[in-house]
Amino acid sequence: MAHSVEGHLNLKIAEYDRRIRTLVYAYDEMRLEHLKLLDRCLPREGGLVLDLGGGTGALAAAVAERFPTIQVQIWDTDPAMLSFARERCAPFGDRMKFVEKSFASPLPACDAVVACIALHHVKDMNVKGQIYRHIFAALRPGGIFANADTLMEPRSAPRAHYFDVWSAFQQSHGISNAEARQNFATWAGEDCYTSLSQEMKLLAEAGFPEPDCFWRHEHQGVFGGIK
Ligand SMILES: C[S@@+](CC[C@H](N)C(=O)[O-])C[C@H]1O[C@@H](n2cnc3c(N)ncnc32)[C@H](O)[C@@H]1O
Repeated sequence: MAHSVEGHLNLKIAEYDRRIRTLVYAYDEMRLEHLKLLDRCLPREGGLVLDLGGGTGALAAAVAERFPTIQVQIWDTDPAMLSFARERCAPFGDRMKFVEKSFASPLPACDAVVACIALHHVKDMNVKGQIYRHIFAALRPGGIFANADTLMEPRSAPRAHYFDVWSAFQQSHGISNAEARQNFATWAGEDCYTSLSQEMKLLAEAGFPEPDCFWRHEHQGVFGGIK
């Protein structure tokens, strides 16, 4: 039976959408930046966008809505997240595909690759470099890779500043400083935040002629390159 609007999954999507905006700094600003960059680089008709680690499908749905003839593939290894995405993206019918595969796999030819707070799950920079090489190989000339993610400094003073800013942001959403610090400690177990210079180096090594940070505010950035 199809899920009702108030079905379990939809409630969870609503809860995810609300909660992610209390935890992740500049989540909506990064979405707007993604759409602006795609507007600049996608063909006027058709085209394929890959959303790596697309999770609940929020970015993919925004892309499908903004570009009515585009095809979007969401790549994610978590079947529960893909099930969220299927529910959310049902209105876009067969323009959306849900690929239960690691984003470290070779990728199909496409016009753009996007990712939002997903590639920081890659801890090994050799693996990240390989992922960027796959992305570069998959893009058509003129195609864009735009990754929205946390950028962290190895030096302690700027790093402390960014975590203070991030904590203050969470506090503005009713989370205490202690809870925010606990969030960072918990996430450190599975997340690996890179610096902008590390990212630029990996992108250049993958073949991007002019790797770029398209947008940045404090520790959040949208960066990548145009092939
Ligand atoms: C924090 S969520 C972000 C979801 C979504 N992009 C967003 O902006 O809300 C990270 C996603 O990356 C996915 N992920 C982690 N490692 C992955 C891998 N190796 N291949 C594909 N997806 C992966 C997780 O399953 C999860 O859905």
